[in-house]
Amino acid sequence: MEAQSSLGLTTRNRLIRTVEGMNLTLRNPKATSTPQTIAAPASNFAASAHGATKIYGEGDTRVVALNAVDVHFAAGQFTAIMGPSGSGKSTLMHCMAGLDRLSDGRVVVGNSDISEASEKQLTQLRRDRLGFIFQAFNLVPTLSAEENITLPGALAGRKVDAEWLDEVVSAVGLADRMDHRPNELSGGQQQRVAVARALAGRPELIFADEPTGNLDSSTGAEILGFMRRAVREFGQTIVMVTHDPVAASYSDRVLFLADGSVVDELFEPTPDLVLDRMRRIGH
Ligand SMILES: Nc1ncnc2c1ncn2[C@@H]1O[C@H](COP(=O)(O)OP(=O)(O)O)[C@@H](O)[C@H]1O
Ligand SMILES: [Mg+2]
Repeated sequence: MEAQSSLGLTTRNRLIRTVEGMNLTLRNPKATSTPQTIAAPASNFAASAHGATKIYGEGDTRVVALNAVDVHFAAGQFTAIMGPSGSGKSTLMHCMAGLDRLSDGRVVVGNSDISEASEKQLTQLRRDRLGFIFQAFNLVPTLSAEENITLPGALAGRKVDAEWLDEVVSAVGLADRMDHRPNELSGGQQQRVAVARALAGRPELIFADEPTGNLDSSTGAEILGFMRRAVREFGQTIVMVTHDPVAASYSDRVLFLADGSVVDELFEPTPDLVLDRMRRIGH
């Protein structure tokens, strides 16, 4: 395992023990090929949804969470998704990230139509091609910052690109904190570890669910500024759910959802422009 060269055998074993019970699948190191999801026509979109429909429940409890949504996320762009509570933001993100399935319609990630993908293929998609940043940082408390950042790669049996790792770590300003455990770091530093973890594997696409929701505004601004830099300088693609107009203003494009439909879109957002649109859709 290449990951051993930077993490060491003991560390890898510890990682494996640590993730027991977590919803992650280890790749068989002997496996030579990765089953592919169904190919779709190539495009400049990192991901897209076509007639995406998600219905929960039946009869009296029937909820149309997504109502035939068509949406495209351009590669190298930072998109914010906004909308009132219950408008379908999380459902859209989860379905696009292969964490949940549509009732009808299609989701394409890169050149793969993932609508018909098996559970195993979805697990591989999430592990090999996507990054996630959540509101709760979801760091492993017993591991150092560095081990947390390299965990997804180690689990996937990927070689750690030391140069890239250095670049990411110094960009998030954590070079002197790599040996610290999460409880030895501030909230902002922990979220920076989570951002570095998402960037370290150079995923095609990062999904962020209210990544600054638990942070004070200056720490939040720092994280958002870094996410924007990752898009501008590293060409990263990010899709972020937020209900904060200031957070949304760091993006290139804001999509507004209401009642399971995309109802508006705004490019080069400012907090005032975002607020104005939110008022118009009755947020
Ligand atoms: N697992 C579920 N079972 C039933 N209804 C759900 C479930 N998840 C979400 N919903 C419903 O789907 C709608 C959209 O939810 P969600 O995507 O979480 O909205 P948002 O993230 O914009 O607040 C809501 O009406 C919500 O109650
Ligand atoms: Mg939500």
